[in-house]
Amino acid sequence: MRSTALPGGRAASAPLLGHEMEPTMFEMSVPGRSAYQLRTTGVPERSLEDLVPELHRGETEIAVAELSERDLVGHFTRLSHRQFSVDLGAYPLGSCTMKYNPKFCDAVAADIGLNGVHPATPASLCQGWLELLVTLEEKLCVITGMSAATLQPAAGAAGELTGLLLMRAFHEANGDSRRRVIIPDSAHGTNPASVTLGGYEVTTIKSNERGLVDLDELKAALGPDVAGIMLTNPNTIGLFEEQITEIAAAVHEVGGLLYYDGANLNAILGVVRPGDMGFDIVHMNLHKTFATPHGGGGPGAGPVAVSQRLARFLPGPMAARRSDGTFEWRTPEDSIGRVHGWHGNAMVLARALAYIEVHGGDGLTRVAERAVLNANWLRERLRATLPAAYDRVCMHECVLSASALKAKYAVRGLDIAKALLEEGFHSPTVYFPLIVDEALMFEPTETESLQTLEALAEAIERIAARAASDPDSLKRAPQSTPVSRVDEARAARQLIATEDAAHRS
Ligand SMILES: Cc1ncc(COP(=O)(O)O)c(C=O)c1O
Repeated sequence: MRSTALPGGRAASAPLLGHEMEPTMFEMSVPGRSAYQLRTTGVPERSLEDLVPELHRGETEIAVAELSERDLVGHFTRLSHRQFSVDLGAYPLGSCTMKYNPKFCDAVAADIGLNGVHPATPASLCQGWLELLVTLEEKLCVITGMSAATLQPAAGAAGELTGLLLMRAFHEANGDSRRRVIIPDSAHGTNPASVTLGGYEVTTIKSNERGLVDLDELKAALGPDVAGIMLTNPNTIGLFEEQITEIAAAVHEVGGLLYYDGANLNAILGVVRPGDMGFDIVHMNLHKTFATPHGGGGPGAGPVAVSQRLARFLPGPMAARRSDGTFEWRTPEDSIGRVHGWHGNAMVLARALAYIEVHGGDGLTRVAERAVLNANWLRERLRATLPAAYDRVCMHECVLSASALKAKYAVRGLDIAKALLEEGFHSPTVYFPLIVDEALMFEPTETESLQTLEALAEAIERIAARAASDPDSLKRAPQSTPVSRVDEARAARQLIATEDAAHRS
């Protein structure tokens, strides 16, 4: 029976509408206004000259916007109302896992007992923090089927580079100077970039007609100079690499290592583990799967877990449990060194542990099952409107193609994505992966209800109907949002990154 409940994930709130620009803080500035008040403490006043040596004093005054607290809060609140956010509505941005995150995890990270601790605090005075880090490391190892993990890398790409440096350290310790790392053509762009930064050459292999690694092509690319392969499973098309054990055997056979890009871990949590598939190194995007939204350049965490034979190379210092049950910082014997100034983005780590604890093992399995169910529901429901690029069961995301709409009405994937904003939904990822024509990659995530998915599908059907009746209007979409269609080519070529340069242009 069809539910009569209204969708909860559709953003239709008024502040998202309207084109008026929000002034900058400098435009709102009034000399003498301030958002703070200093209490009289009785501490005698001293001049700046007394406190700061001349060497460190600037010669020119720095421009600072002068605003009251009220104006400042209003400014940022208005700006936030003009953004689409995971708290506002459904955000099916494929490959990014932009899911709603439980507020409980925010409450944990807001605890002064955690966030009031300086990272240089001696271990004896912050045993609780060390225990938290060790517990998280242990749980991530259980989830991935690995032996040890570093929590230092600050994001997925930082985790990739760390993983490649570990791969390098492992081969070098064996007196093995290997040159190449194999990557499938569907891989995320950060993979080849990390390989190059890690000092290796990229060998790209073509996916087969089912969107998976072509085993014959892989075997042809393998050789004694191959350091390893980087894969994500499910891959970036949202498909599970069914021949993963054969792939692992072939790579191990030539002495290579398997690197798992765990940015897509949301699909397999509690169901299957990279370690059991044969992977040696795994990075996780905690800022996708475990309670911190991805994107926007915010803080992330890309822990890297490894099998036993790579544990001695992990970055240090790492929190470790002593035999008496207390905790200390320890650096593995052949550590590649630090990959972060301190111990990683600690609050993202705290949120991740809260998320894991609050869900429990069964709860994490349900996260993955529902994420996969939602993606498949959407793929099936849109079969007639936007057919899937590969017509088979997908994992947590589905890659649909607008190539038929392009051929018939010259309406492109980008036009559909932009029109969805007018419908109160965030756009899917467009034109990725590159191997799919007019790709629209939807990742509904487990957090959206059936009612929201129905509303999303209906919105896409309305847009497809508009493609037939009024294709030009789609070319101008979105019209009701604060920022309408931008000239993307000009924005890329003429990047204006500072406020003063924006005024000059
Ligand atoms: C498959 C895949 N790998 C790696 C990354 C890189 O992660 P980050 O953006 O945290 O550096 C992403 C990010 O979207 C991804 O989707």
